[in-house]
Amino acid sequence: MTRLSTAWSKLRWSLAQRGLAGTMRTALGRLQPQDGTAGVEKPMLHPFDQRHGVDTSGLIGGGDLRSGHKNDVFNTAYYGMAPSRFRRVVEDWISDSGHAAISQYSFIDLGCGKGRAVMMASEFSFRQVIGVELNASLAKTAKSNVVAWTDAGRAVCPVQILCQDATEFSFPEGPCLLYLFNPFAAPVVKRLIERLETEFAGRPGVLDVIYFNPEAGELLEAHAGFKLLWTGTVEMSEEDAAADHVASPEDLCSVYRWVGV
Ligand SMILES: C[S@@+](CC[C@H](N)C(=O)[O-])C[C@H]1O[C@@H](n2cnc3c(N)ncnc32)[C@H](O)[C@@H]1O
Repeated sequence: MTRLSTAWSKLRWSLAQRGLAGTMRTALGRLQPQDGTAGVEKPMLHPFDQRHGVDTSGLIGGGDLRSGHKNDVFNTAYYGMAPSRFRRVVEDWISDSGHAAISQYSFIDLGCGKGRAVMMASEFSFRQVIGVELNASLAKTAKSNVVAWTDAGRAVCPVQILCQDATEFSFPEGPCLLYLFNPFAAPVVKRLIERLETEFAGRPGVLDVIYFNPEAGELLEAHAGFKLLWTGTVEMSEEDAAADHVASPEDLCSVYRWVGV
């Protein structure tokens, strides 16, 4: 790809993600030193990677994650979830008695990136854990991370990584816990909801959704088939706060249940 066509596809991605005003703000922001966080040294490797010998660190903008799929333009970015936040929300969800036993649930991470959340989910006794990733290189990294993780005996349930678009994924039978860490912009969330309407038609109560940084959460809230169970901020451990380059204390997480229409 020539430099000009790369620049053009990044511009197209930025316009789809941020709109014209947001694209201009971002471009201007890059020219100026940022606030007080500039100069604060953060480690490049997250302690999760150092501890477990895996590779989940780093921030890759959506414009640099081309796969050739039409949904590339709506890809937000790759960034791994703060482990403390993930575990807090999943433990809270497990402790809620309003759903079937966790051993009946398939945990599905649509936009699993390098598989950090997939690995952490496999420490809980789900029926199975599935990660779906559009970018082939990230999916490959996720697969080798999962091999290292399972070889170390950390997974207590079956885990698989699929390289495909989230809106083309066929959900397994039985209860599903869908996990999203703001993987794609509203047009793809809209298509995903249409898919969920079909896949879970006549199956109320067997799909819960954990949506971190729910930028398109209003699409679920406006939909009669989804009930908002909880929304709020989630505390990070000191370790995560010291290592995280992206998360902020104001980040929201929302949990929804498919109640059917
Ligand atoms: C913010 S990262 C989340 C990583 C991981 N879920 C976690 O919590 O650590 C979002 C990921 O979604 C992927 N993605 C974006 N659009 C996608 C799509 N249409 N289908 C599948 N994956 C997608 C991106 O490539 C990126 O790796």
